[in-house]
Amino acid sequence: MKKTVAILFVFSIVMVLWQSCSQTDTKQKETASKPIVSRGAKACAPIKDPNNPKPMAIMMRMMAANADSMRSQLLRGETLDAAKYPFIKFYLVEPTDPNVLEPQFFENARLFQQAYKNLFAKPKDQIKRYNLLINSCIKCHESYCSGPLKRIRKFPIE
Ligand code: HEC
Repeated sequence: MKKTVAILFVFSIVMVLWQSCSQTDTKQKETASKPIVSRGAKACAPIKDPNNPKPMAIMMRMMAANADSMRSQLLRGETLDAAKYPFIKFYLVEPTDPNVLEPQFFENARLFQQAYKNLFAKPKDQIKRYNLLINSCIKCHESYCSGPLKRIRKFPIE
């Protein structure tokens, strides 16, 4: 008897979770079908509670802050130190919109990680390699999250 109760309990939790997920899904699809900005890029799913962002959004904020700081360092003629900027594995954590987790996204993430490694591979030509890194932020954002593009496009060093 206890077992049946336990099973029913687990089942009802699963149902509740499943329902709330499919509800957000429909909402996200509705948002996705609205006409959206710049070069056919999808906007990111709006963060419903800005004080409670998903882990991927938090990591992206850190990456943007790091890019900003790299830019200032390079403009001051300093060399970037890999230890100060460890690679952030954003592609392993939960995004606001789970629909982004498709093969093209992971391919963009792979190219981004490659550009990241190249940036720190040699102390020479870091400005050029920093700009290539920012290009790979832009490349992914053109397909998956157009909102921050305006900000990211200010990152390259002329
Ligand atoms: C492989 C794809 C990909 C790459 C590469 C990428 N991003 Fe993102 N970015 C995303 C996605 C998807 C989101 C939406 C995350 C979410 O809401 O969970 C996002 C969100 C953001 C946000 C908004 C965060 C917020 O407050 O909601 C900023 C800013 C951002 N990215 C900057 C950057 C910068 C700067 C780089 C490069 C250093 C970069 N991104 C590289 C896919 C990418």
